Amino acid sequence: MTNNWWQDAIIYQLYIRSFYDANHDGIGDFKGVIEKLDYLDHLGVDAVWVSPHYKSPMDDNGYDVSDYYQVSGDYGTLDDVKKFIKEAHQRDIKVIFDLVLNHTSDEHEWFQAAKDPSHPDHEKYHDYYIWQPPKYTEDGTRTMPTSWRSWFGGPVWEYNEPTDEYYLHIFSKKMPDLNWRNDAMKNELKVIIKWLIDLGVDGFRVDASNHLEKNWDFPDGHPGYEHFSSLPKHHEYLEELGRELFGPHNIFTLGEAGGASKEEALQYCGYDSNEFDVLIQFGHTWADVDWDNQKTPGKWAKGRLDVPSIKQSFHHWYEMLGDKGHNVIYWHNHDQPRIVSHYGNDTVYRERSAKMLCHTLYFMPGTAIVYQGEEIGMTNVDYESLDSFRDVEVYTEYDNFMKLGASHEEAMQALRDRARDNARSPYHWNDNPYAGFSTKEPWMPVVKNYPTVNLKHQQAKSDSIWHTYHDVFLYRKQFDIAHGKVTFLDIEHKDAYLYHTKTTTHEALVVANFTDHATSVTLEMSLEGYTLLLSNYDPVPLNNEMRLAPYASYVYVKERGENT
Ligand code: NOJ
Repeated sequence: MTNNWWQDAIIYQLYIRSFYDANHDGIGDFKGVIEKLDYLDHLGVDAVWVSPHYKSPMDDNGYDVSDYYQVSGDYGTLDDVKKFIKEAHQRDIKVIFDLVLNHTSDEHEWFQAAKDPSHPDHEKYHDYYIWQPPKYTEDGTRTMPTSWRSWFGGPVWEYNEPTDEYYLHIFSKKMPDLNWRNDAMKNELKVIIKWLIDLGVDGFRVDASNHLEKNWDFPDGHPGYEHFSSLPKHHEYLEELGRELFGPHNIFTLGEAGGASKEEALQYCGYDSNEFDVLIQFGHTWADVDWDNQKTPGKWAKGRLDVPSIKQSFHHWYEMLGDKGHNVIYWHNHDQPRIVSHYGNDTVYRERSAKMLCHTLYFMPGTAIVYQGEEIGMTNVDYESLDSFRDVEVYTEYDNFMKLGASHEEAMQALRDRARDNARSPYHWNDNPYAGFSTKEPWMPVVKNYPTVNLKHQQAKSDSIWHTYHDVFLYRKQFDIAHGKVTFLDIEHKDAYLYHTKTTTHEALVVANFTDHATSVTLEMSLEGYTLLLSNYDPVPLNNEMRLAPYASYVYVKERGENT
């Protein structure tokens, strides 16, 4: 088995815009992150993954890069970035940057030249992007090349009058997709990557990595995802980057792709793959969709939580990678709602369910990620007005909901339940105005529960969610959970989350109720030698038959003897 720093790392995903505002302009920044590095160190994290920090018009909060060589003025300067890397390293914290390779901003100079035939560099840059001529109906009306639908809702095509063509954007229309079949473009990206590596980063999270190749026959389809996602050739591009850049420079890579088969999973992140070290997959992230809802369809419709499917997804990935690759464990990132609101309960059981989520996640093997605010049980937003939301996706989808017949209130509820903005509101440091995030009105409103849901409060209380995370991270290291072998028990149980993880020195047994009602479990295994390590209720004796209160969770451990 290979053993690299990232295998047992706890990675803190930091959404810089909302982390800490040190220069008092209402937006988080690098100086703010530097000020809080001691906090991250104290929490026990080994690495930080910083959301895109490059120059950007911020249509998609930085995933729309207009210049990879510049730092967004919102976040600071290149000197701040260098200082941040240095200070993080001084604390033995690795730095992972977000690398956006599927698209640029439409304000990137490449696209400015690409779209304008009178631009002196038009010839060179036109093919850095993906263009198609219009189609025409019988009566001569101009139509789009295909009816493919963007991941943010709405069409993937935008008309460009000066060239009489449409360009492809699988996300927002301000994010034109790059043409990975163009070698000049690819080579320029490689130079950019090398430049970032030379800044001293330890790793990259490679954004939208399964979308790099498109079906250049442009067949029709709606939504048509199979024509612009997970096409076989994208592996060639990733392999090339790994072989030429990430591998030789010892750069850790965290890919992002949904729906991989076993073969593909190993292709992405098997130990002998050049593509990535590990992969962020989404199998467990939307286990509560009401597929029958037609007004706010897909992920936007909240349904009953299918607990077995969460366990099955993790199990499936452990099986697929086996001893040939390393898994990733995380509950959510900046693209999903807050986990305590989503899979837990953010009203009566906020503390208990947040701890249950911590217990159930972090005793499973793999590289662990925690998303900013998760460690203090931050909740979804409580916005009452549409214009409190900031995400570009919110606005395309709101229009869509209206067309599908949703009322304003139904649409607002869907947004409060499911929008990405739920995870992006400013961090709650304390109970000062604006939750101590800034002294100025933040770029998006803080959630009103900050006077009670905040770090200061959590740290002051010895049995809080924060202390649970802190202690669990220590135990995770102590028992070497990252390299363990997990076995799910009664995986079909519709309420409970039961598993044990064996490491070379210990066995950890997690017994948890994932629901807001009591449930009973049967543990068909020997319970000898286990002692209680952690729980979110008063201790109860470990038994083969147990009754679990709402969201109750217990973690038991035992040392492994010679014969176990
Ligand atoms: C995935 C990122 O996580 C998401 O936030 C972003 O909008 C898209 N990729 C496009 O870059």
